[in-house]
Amino acid sequence: MISNDYSTEEKSFHHNTGTKACMRTVRVGSKSLPLYPLIIVCLGLLNTILLLTAVVIGIYCGKVNEESTPHQMTIQTLIMEVKQLQILQSDAIKAQEEAKQALEKAFSGHQQLKLHLEQNKTLSDSLQRQLETLHAERAALLSNASNIRESCGRCHPGWLLLNTSCYFHAKVGLSSLKNWSDSRADCISRGADLAVIDNWDEQLNLFETLPKVERTGRPWWFEAPGIWIGLTDIQKEGTWVWVNNVTLQHGGYWIQGEPNNYGSYGENCAALMIRDNPRKSWFDGQCDVTKEWLCEMGPN
Ligand SMILES: *[C@@H]1O[C@H](CO)[C@@H](O)[C@H](O)[C@H]1NC(C)=O
Ligand SMILES: *[C@@H]1O[C@H](CO)[C@@H](O)[C@H](O)[C@H]1NC(C)=O
Ligand SMILES: *[C@@H]1O[C@H](CO)[C@@H](O)[C@H](O)[C@H]1NC(C)=O
Ligand SMILES: *[C@@H]1O[C@H](CO)[C@@H](O)[C@H](O)[C@H]1NC(C)=O
Ligand SMILES: *[C@@H]1O[C@H](CO)[C@@H](O)[C@H](O)[C@H]1NC(C)=O
Repeated sequence: MISNDYSTEEKSFHHNTGTKACMRTVRVGSKSLPLYPLIIVCLGLLNTILLLTAVVIGIYCGKVNEESTPHQMTIQTLIMEVKQLQILQSDAIKAQEEAKQALEKAFSGHQQLKLHLEQNKTLSDSLQRQLETLHAERAALLSNASNIRESCGRCHPGWLLLNTSCYFHAKVGLSSLKNWSDSRADCISRGADLAVIDNWDEQLNLFETLPKVERTGRPWWFEAPGIWIGLTDIQKEGTWVWVNNVTLQHGGYWIQGEPNNYGSYGENCAALMIRDNPRKSWFDGQCDVTKEWLCEMGPN
């Protein structure tokens, strides 16, 4: 402020001095100095001073303008806008990151689901194959079952179907052999009776099916106890009658020399000896001797 006041005084001083100088020069110009160039010089000086003043004022005003609002405001606004934009930008980046993460998560979820689906597909394929195998096995078993029903299935387990009858061969240990009447009782307890050999076919079938006794070179009656069948002449010696009350008609398939009613007790019950000749395989024995036995019943 002080310097400003001083410069103002200085300006007015110069101004006054200039004007007085011009007047004085005219008056002193008795030496006939030309007036016109002097005026030009004065005006030039004045002009210079005015120019300087204008420059000083201009600089001052420029300083004031720089310090004060419009540009400054604009810059601050711009800075604020930039800051807001930066905030918006970081928000956008954050949102983008989040979206990216969500996308990655969804993608990995999708991958997992795909894996699951493939595993399920593998599983279901293998189950399908198992199912097909089981179907095939079931069909085979069903066909086997129908075969069994048509053949062995018509006889009880452990019984043998030969043509039109079921047979049970009591092939037991020595201690479990039975006399003829106990053997028959056993067959009856099984819903059957001792075997009745009606014809040659049945004789042949049994001969070929029942286990053969080994030949040892000793007489045949040493080789095995034989198998009781449902034939006896207990009622009338020499008249052989089957357990179904049918009398033996065709002579039978006796071993040579049989039946001989051997011994003091006689022999009134018939048995099988499966050896080498199907036409010669029966013999008579004492009914209280124990042997294996053969039951027969009709099929189911
Ligand atoms: C796979 O199978 C299981 C059941 O076995 C089921 O719960 C699951 O949804 C299945 N997954 C797909 C992807 O199908
Ligand atoms: C069916 O029976 C035959 C012999 O009769 C046997 O070889 C086959 O293994 C049986 N099949 C099944 C599936 O039991
Ligand atoms: C089967 O039994 C019937 C009736 O008993 C008989 O006529 C036929 O000859 C027998 N067939 C065979 C192969 O044993
Ligand atoms: C055989 O005859 C006896 C006595 O006569 C009788 O008790 C039995 O029921 C008859 N058996 C058959 C199968 O006819
Ligand atoms: C058969 O043996 C039993 C004992 O196991 C006996 O009671 C029965 O009298 C015997 N029968 C004959 C005919 O010997």
